[in-house]
Amino acid sequence: MEYRNLGNSGLKVSELSFGSWVTFVNQLGKKEAMDCMAYAYDQGVNFFDNAEAYASGESEILMGDILKKLNWGRDTYIVSSKVFWGGELPTQRGLSKKHINDACNAALNRLQVEYLDLFFCHRPDPETPIIETVYAMNDLLHQGKIMYWGTSEWSADEINQAFECAEKHHLRPPVMEQPQYNILHRERFEKEYKEIFEKYNYGTTIWSPLASGLLTGKYNDGIPKNSRFKVKGYEWLADSIDDVNFDKIKKVNAIADRLGIKPSQLAILWCLNNKNVSTVILGASKVSQLKENLESSKYIDLVTDEIINEINNS
Ligand SMILES: NC(=O)c1ccc[n+]([C@@H]2O[C@H](COP(=O)([O-])OP(=O)(O)OC[C@H]3O[C@@H](n4cnc5c(N)ncnc54)[C@H](OP(=O)(O)O)[C@@H]3O)[C@@H](O)[C@H]2O)c1
Repeated sequence: MEYRNLGNSGLKVSELSFGSWVTFVNQLGKKEAMDCMAYAYDQGVNFFDNAEAYASGESEILMGDILKKLNWGRDTYIVSSKVFWGGELPTQRGLSKKHINDACNAALNRLQVEYLDLFFCHRPDPETPIIETVYAMNDLLHQGKIMYWGTSEWSADEINQAFECAEKHHLRPPVMEQPQYNILHRERFEKEYKEIFEKYNYGTTIWSPLASGLLTGKYNDGIPKNSRFKVKGYEWLADSIDDVNFDKIKKVNAIADRLGIKPSQLAILWCLNNKNVSTVILGASKVSQLKENLESSKYIDLVTDEIINEINNS
């Protein structure tokens, strides 16, 4: 496993990490989720991603129980939470100081840890002044409840505003963004964030490297049974299938075949090739998927600039 600095910080994050969205609670019970986390950690993964919204807090409870059971040294792993969707009531949502504070305390309880390494604003909140959010995160940093704060799916303009507020009021700026980035979804990361990377060396923990599994090629002939697109509550994924560029997926899958690697591995290596990616967050509903995906790094030398260009132009 290789480790990269999280943006401008000194934190070394494994270039492949593991997240719990959809899978924990909905597809994986305690034993299966624990097997995945233990396998990932044994392979050098040091970052485990979560959010208050995942399975309405149950995902953090499950991860907390597993962390307790596995009893890893607290100085050997990085765990995150995200604030934005904490419940239905007006006080349980968004990025007000109150909700940020309540969400952080609730995540600490559910994960059974004394501090969060990374705490993300899960979306921008146009109804809360950015300065209030920056202050709230700065206060949590000072209280020792979080180590680094970040954004998720914020525009470059909103990220710039957070930096400007932080600088003006001598507060700690965000360190990392959590954006979607994969072969099918490139625009914001590569174009809109270009200036953000140059100005701030902003870190990124990218999500859905396989576009929820589409890039494995397993949806090329329809939605398979026991796949994410069949999970209750995620019907919107199946509803969006008509917009998927399957021609491109098939061409990229053929490049993987030619190289003698799995389509999932090529898709992950394509993400790792971008130096503005600090870590690629993997998702898996089985240890076997995690194994295949974590083995990607072995093939890094196969993915030359020519291959990257071929993928981008396919
Ligand atoms: N900040 C945000 O807004 C946000 C949003 C989404 C995700 N995230 C984070 O990013 C993490 C990763 O995102 P993601 O889960 O969408 O990643 P992904 O890699 O795009 O999708 C993972 C899913 O693809 C399928 N899969 C993975 N490897 C496979 C393989 N080798 N062969 C066949 N199928 C395979 C599995 O689903 P099935 O087996 O069920 O088909 C797996 O759960 C999340 O857990 C979460 O921590 C953040």
